[in-house]
Amino acid sequence: MSNPVRIGIIGYGSVGSGPYTRQIRRMQQEGYAIEVVQVCDVSEGRRQVAKELLGVDRFSSNHADIIENDNVDLVLVLTSMNEHGPLAKAALQAGKHVLVEKPMATNLEEAAELVTLAKSSPGYLVPAPHVILSPTYQAMWRRVHRGELGKIRLARAFYGWAGPSWGQWFYRPGGGAHFDLGVYNVISLTGLLGPAKRVTGLAGTSIPERVVDGEMMKVEALDNAHICIDFGEGVFAVVTTGFTIQKYRCPAVELYGDKGTIQMLGDDWDPNGYELWLNEVGAWQIHEETDPNWPWTDGLRHLVECIQSGQKPMITPEHGYHALEIMIKAEQAGRDGQARTIESTFPALNLYEKEAEQDSAHLIHDRTQL
Ligand SMILES: NC(=O)c1ccc[n+]([C@@H]2O[C@H](COP(=O)([O-])OP(=O)(O)OC[C@H]3O[C@@H](n4cnc5c(N)ncnc54)[C@H](O)[C@@H]3O)[C@@H](O)[C@H]2O)c1
Repeated sequence: MSNPVRIGIIGYGSVGSGPYTRQIRRMQQEGYAIEVVQVCDVSEGRRQVAKELLGVDRFSSNHADIIENDNVDLVLVLTSMNEHGPLAKAALQAGKHVLVEKPMATNLEEAAELVTLAKSSPGYLVPAPHVILSPTYQAMWRRVHRGELGKIRLARAFYGWAGPSWGQWFYRPGGGAHFDLGVYNVISLTGLLGPAKRVTGLAGTSIPERVVDGEMMKVEALDNAHICIDFGEGVFAVVTTGFTIQKYRCPAVELYGDKGTIQMLGDDWDPNGYELWLNEVGAWQIHEETDPNWPWTDGLRHLVECIQSGQKPMITPEHGYHALEIMIKAEQAGRDGQARTIESTFPALNLYEKEAEQDSAHLIHDRTQL
């Protein structure tokens, strides 16, 4: 077995102690050589939680203790968003591998520094979200890129909910629905359709006050948005997102091509299979979810595998930067009505790797039979 990848966690709040702790335990049960050596949170109260959930005694309220710890190979940055950029930068500079929750930074200057640093740093930088790793996303990507749907002309993606009742930072500058929610859809769509050329949209604050952490607070970040993305050659997409949505039953991602339609069910961070219409078949085909337990924290498994194999991660800092540029400029466009050009690009995804797995094996319902 290879040497264990030694993990230091910075930020042990809701996702640190919940989904990422479950992912770490799951990976250990599956035989991955990983161990958590230290946890950091500015809140001392998280010390006991880390001890109980991870059995880790080493706790610090100062992130430098993780970043300077020679026994840490991989730093997980799971703090509130404004801290992501500076913490990821410090960890990369210290030669660590870094998984940073989304967005990788809350402004383009910090994100650009991370992209540059990641090129020269010995450590890999994997920015969340990890939606491109799900088997359903990859199956859809391959169908699109094998040309089964013809040229994709139009797309939509959707994700929202009523919004967190914890973490006032979600509703302050550096937070908001684009960074917290829309980011999944923006990564999904650009991963499928390639780099965006231009954005516009509507973005604003619809619920001016909320109770968060038991206190009424003023909402300063956007909580309601449609992001319109122009991919060039007349190909358009829209992302609908907000902390204003109680429930929905629409697909997560819809792609409309010259030969058919494909739509992901569930959410792109928690897919539930996909539906496919091909003109030549003339019926909807429903593809069952192949991995109902796929976790949105899967980037950790991917990063650990890359560290152990020496392969470059499929999730790139350039893609994270591109998504951030789209979100920031869509917010600006939403506020002043002026469309913005997108300057950045990112390496095209190549998800053909797992082609061997039968993409059509899980067709449960072919309505031609009805
Ligand atoms: N909550 C979700 O459902 C969810 C899902 C996916 C991703 N995320 C992302 O995960 C991140 C964390 O979200 P959360 O819901 O766990 O928030 P949270 O507020 O519950 O936890 C963040 C933790 O980070 C700590 N922290 C802040 N600054 C720090 C610093 N400088 N050093 C050390 N600790 C620090 C806080 O004390 C807190 O315990 C966010 O980026 C969010 O976008 C959240």
